[in-house]
Amino acid sequence: PNIVFILADDYGFNDIGYHAVEHHSDMKTPFLDSLAMAGVRLENYYIQPICSPSRSVLMSGRYQIHTGLQHYVISPQQRNGLPLDNIILPEQLHKCGYDTHMVGKWHLGFYKDEYLPWKRGFNSYFGYLTGGEDYYTKWRCDGKLCGYDMTSEKGPTNATYGQYSANLFANKANEAIDKHDKTKPLFLYVAFQSVHSPMEVPESYAKPFDYIKNHNRKMYGGMVAAMDEAVKNITEHLQAAGLWDNTILVFSADNGGQTLSGGNNWPLRGRKLTLWEGGIKGVGFVHGKILNVPNPNYIVNNEMIHISDWFPTIMEATQCPYVEGTQKLDGVNQWDTIFGKTVSARKEILLNIDPLFTPLFYKETPKQNIQMGFDTSVHAGIRYGEWKLLTGLQGDDRWIEPPEWKNKAEEEQQEDTEHPGFQKFATKSVQLYNIVNDPYEQVEVSDLYPSVVNDLLSKLAAYNATAVPVNYPPSDPTSDPSLHGGFWGPWV
Ligand SMILES: *[C@@H]1O[C@H](CO)[C@@H](O)[C@H](O)[C@H]1NC(C)=O
Ligand SMILES: *[C@@H]1O[C@H](CO)[C@@H](O)[C@H](O)[C@H]1NC(C)=O
Ligand SMILES: *[C@@H]1O[C@H](CO)[C@@H](O)[C@H](O)[C@H]1NC(C)=O
Repeated sequence: PNIVFILADDYGFNDIGYHAVEHHSDMKTPFLDSLAMAGVRLENYYIQPICSPSRSVLMSGRYQIHTGLQHYVISPQQRNGLPLDNIILPEQLHKCGYDTHMVGKWHLGFYKDEYLPWKRGFNSYFGYLTGGEDYYTKWRCDGKLCGYDMTSEKGPTNATYGQYSANLFANKANEAIDKHDKTKPLFLYVAFQSVHSPMEVPESYAKPFDYIKNHNRKMYGGMVAAMDEAVKNITEHLQAAGLWDNTILVFSADNGGQTLSGGNNWPLRGRKLTLWEGGIKGVGFVHGKILNVPNPNYIVNNEMIHISDWFPTIMEATQCPYVEGTQKLDGVNQWDTIFGKTVSARKEILLNIDPLFTPLFYKETPKQNIQMGFDTSVHAGIRYGEWKLLTGLQGDDRWIEPPEWKNKAEEEQQEDTEHPGFQKFATKSVQLYNIVNDPYEQVEVSDLYPSVVNDLLSKLAAYNATAVPVNYPPSDPTSDPSLHGGFWGPWV
């Protein structure tokens, strides 16, 4: 089969139509809904809380502790990237005879040529290498350094200056579909810029949301609508090319919604950058004739699936034998799980262990405290069965309503540093929740279940023993785009 993987950026749990209806947000995605309703909705689906990490896990099938990307994101000025000793998904599919193409956001490192997408298994690439930029101009600043960021395997380009990226990437995805070698199955990875900040969208998309007083949310509504239309255009193009009937389309968010930039995860707690459910419980569904979903019913799949599982799952779907590289996968094959033939092949998810995590709004970090061999002052999280254990600081722990409810101007969406409530963010360094009974994380139960706490701390300690050191190098001023023709690109 052809595989089309669509990744939405900073797309909140409550920002897709079928969740919005259930949880009363005003976001509308008629096309995505139609795909999901004729597909399998993944409703116990987990992703990582932020961009580079989630993408690294998707591409490598491995947890962040095994690639050194535990902390934050790869910044444009860092000599950093998803380590080259990982055989990543497109490389693997390429070996199995797939024609592989990528459009959109890479964010897995570019300081050296070897890290670029077309050196890592994609036959063609069109997109941007950093983490976020202007939707029209492709201008991106990082600290004092600024440059354009749009490139393909032929080199950087300014030719698309002014084109809104949702439309641009839909067009480029369609071009990839056209130029794909018809004798081979297609792997197309479309990593949209939508719906990450900055809040930009052509007026016509935002117009229906004019009544929303919160500017970010209004714009976000339009950005979501543009993405919905972009997916529709790509789908119609696959149909016109005669590829659709043999295509498996996966749609996924990369992390939870950024509530400071229009996103919403209600009724989940927290947001992007946190290990609360709002940061990691993802929008996801699979569509394809092969799934044989009875019309007009839709299928909700409540099995625990993690973003690391796509690698082995896609290997299974494509009958592509996986050659374990030098490293072992953390993902597990969920192909039969998606069909509902079997229960999830996983019982637990390591959410992360990040010794460098210190959210801005805490005055002090907790003191080292080793329990069951694990330092509970360190930001970490693990899911095991119904339980979820969090240690260390956890960041924004609010339940944030869709801004359109109260429909006031900015109030609820202020920056953390100005939010009057943030001293109240939980500082308890060991927290336990029963996610099955308490999916919104309202009742902290570590005192009631000390043996569960100990078991999960021991598991974290065991994971930690397999971790590689965090790779988070300092900024390198020689990355300066003005030294390289005005574009962000490899400099070493
Ligand atoms: C979708 O296709 C239509 C028709 O070609 C075009 O007008 C529209 O701009 C496209 N939208 C996106 C988001 O690509
Ligand atoms: C993880 O293991 C390293 C190396 O043994 C140790 O220094 C560190 O404190 C451990 N981290 C936690 C959170 O326990
Ligand atoms: C890109 O195009 C814009 C608009 O024409 C122009 O202002 C800018 O200088 C160009 N940048 C580069 C690096 O060519």
